Amino acid sequence: LSVDQFNRDAIEHIFRIADLMEPYAHRRKRTRVLDGAILGNLFFEPSTRTRVSFGTAFNLLGGEVRETTGMESSALAKGESLYDTARVLSSYSDVIAMRHPKSGAVAEFAEGSRVPVINGGDGANEHPTQALLDLYTIEKELAHHGSTIDGMHLCIVGDLKYGRTVHSLSKLLCMFKQVNITLVSPPELGMPTSIVDLLESAGHKVTQVSELSGSMDADIVYQTRIQQERFTNLDEAEQYRGRFRLNSEIYTKHYKPNTVIMHPLPRDSRAEANELDNDLNQNPNLAIFRQADNGVLIRMALFAATLGVEHLVSRYDTDVIW
Ligand code: CP
Repeated sequence: LSVDQFNRDAIEHIFRIADLMEPYAHRRKRTRVLDGAILGNLFFEPSTRTRVSFGTAFNLLGGEVRETTGMESSALAKGESLYDTARVLSSYSDVIAMRHPKSGAVAEFAEGSRVPVINGGDGANEHPTQALLDLYTIEKELAHHGSTIDGMHLCIVGDLKYGRTVHSLSKLLCMFKQVNITLVSPPELGMPTSIVDLLESAGHKVTQVSELSGSMDADIVYQTRIQQERFTNLDEAEQYRGRFRLNSEIYTKHYKPNTVIMHPLPRDSRAEANELDNDLNQNPNLAIFRQADNGVLIRMALFAATLGVEHLVSRYDTDVIW
């Protein structure tokens, strides 16, 4: 439900299971370890990556997926409570993945569920599986440069108030050592003070600025989208659109030649927004699609661990012939 449920050992455990999932995710091997198991994949808010990668991860472990998408297609639209919905749907499933536009809604649902519930994003609150895949990506990308999460310099740019992925990522970083974090946003869209306090209490150096200047000297730059769907007034969102562009020219001016570029996606590709320009698509440091690919590995690892089959995956595997 939250990254607060993890400690550093648990993170390492999930990452090492994720490593074992590579041959299955790349369809070199096939496992049936979750044969007969059912995932309830409940998405009450738009999603491409999270919904499809949860489903793909479960299928790759041999399980079946039942999808519910959109509030209007469920009895929630008739006033049914999350508790009642959970009581009913959890008897049809062995595990549930869920996204909901309201902060705290997934935890509320979990109270009525008889099976484990995995948070696929709840309002502006948290996106814990995204944070795990982000951190896993950071670990892998930095390893290529002989660096580690401990001691890295991470620059997070954009809408840090409503961006739930960076809330969860920041909390996970509190379990690591001596991270240098630069937060780039207008003060009105700054990281919640409670999270900045957590980062500082963990001994991290946190710098808050409203725009890029000079060399940022970052190992990773993590761009975010203006979360227009969380603003009460769309005109307000509009005034921030385009304030945090990253293109080849800005990248060369402010970042090191090997700074890794991340974004949870979707990126807003409209010309007036363009927080991550297509002119960086061929840059080898652009990790956004490797990041999305890692989502399948992390979600496979979470399902295997949650259902207690992580040690059985290879016992039920075969080679893929085609
Ligand atoms: N990163 C992310 O949550 O993407 P989707 O909204 O497409 O699931």
